[in-house]
Amino acid sequence: MATINDNYLKLKAGYLFPEIARRVNKFATENPQAPIIRLGIGDVTEPLPAACREAMIKAVEDMGDRDKFKGYGPEQGYAWLREKIAAQDFQARGCDISADEIFISDGSKCDNGNILDIFGDNNSIAVTDPVYPVYVDTNVMAGHTGEANEKGEYGGLVYLPVTAENNFTAQIPSQKVDLIYLCFPNNPTGAVATREHLQAWVDYAKANGSIIFFDAAYEAFISDPTIPHSIYEIPGARDCAIEFRSFSKNAGFTGTRCALSVVPKTLTAKASDGSDVELWKLWNRRQSTKFNGVSYVVQRGAEAVYSIEGQAQTKALVSFYLENAKIIREQMSAAGLQVYGGVNAPYVWVKTPDNITSWDFFDKLLFNSNVVVTPGSGFGAAGEGYFRISAFNSRDNVNEAMKRISAQFK
Ligand code: MLT
Repeated sequence: MATINDNYLKLKAGYLFPEIARRVNKFATENPQAPIIRLGIGDVTEPLPAACREAMIKAVEDMGDRDKFKGYGPEQGYAWLREKIAAQDFQARGCDISADEIFISDGSKCDNGNILDIFGDNNSIAVTDPVYPVYVDTNVMAGHTGEANEKGEYGGLVYLPVTAENNFTAQIPSQKVDLIYLCFPNNPTGAVATREHLQAWVDYAKANGSIIFFDAAYEAFISDPTIPHSIYEIPGARDCAIEFRSFSKNAGFTGTRCALSVVPKTLTAKASDGSDVELWKLWNRRQSTKFNGVSYVVQRGAEAVYSIEGQAQTKALVSFYLENAKIIREQMSAAGLQVYGGVNAPYVWVKTPDNITSWDFFDKLLFNSNVVVTPGSGFGAAGEGYFRISAFNSRDNVNEAMKRISAQFK
């Protein structure tokens, strides 16, 4: 008889965003006239930059030309894309990252889950709370946790609460952990980490032989020039950090799919015999075996992000969403709500009024305002009493949603 991976039975409810979609679809079926506005999942709404579209159209033409046609590409991504990323995203910021330390992929969500393939099962793992649920659920699936308690916290994980009191940046743990997930600008709180805060993490990781998984999917939204965009801007990070980046939010690739991971060649972890093993070699082996690369057409689209036009167009896209975030912050504050984030990030983190639970407030907004947000408790126990508003939508929808939510507080 075939058996299953029992770890899946430990997972609480559905993955957050499908669960929201299920509730919204039920409401929409029962209320077909309701003019629903979705500010829940951080999915982009504005068209792809022209530079990316033109590059992809040209790439499709290449595929119709026997001389330019491409079959399987390199599993790690084409050199012309990796070189531009290395030069413009990293070296231009003083980061010592070379093109062959960059691996092109079809998404940061996938990379964040897949990276666990190359790590052992006995690592102690720290996550912030609230947290992007993928970090937790992929560890549950891999059997790295115990069961969840009634608050949804899994046994075996070290939860680092991030609250208004600590500016939504976790305190460095007092105990030793082997793997640490950090996300800056943060999903869901919109918080950013200063250079000093990141240096403290790098120092901790180096002192304890830990590896930091640094999710920088929202780095393009950093508007404060003092905030680092990459963990590799911090001295020592090459020896203790893997970074994940994405074209989803800066260039609108959520449906097009392209991302990257950075695994420095200097990064090692221990084998069970105590020897040091280069993680780059393992990740390269893993990707070469389980992944056949991102399509040529999509990689050409991503490459166009680094052209002069592409840079200007992606900057304009990011500014557009940041302006939405500003409107959300201002309107929610004016309605008397406590707001955080949304300055260097496309997410605004809002305290629910009158201690209403996150899901109760979600239902209230869905039923009374027909606006979808994300309940904070879906990101972890410490997210209870908050909700997240995504700035990814049209200006008209953001204005209308803010008008409707504000009307609840008049
Ligand atoms: C979110 O809403 O948190 C993001 O869209 C999730 C993701 O990028 O996978």
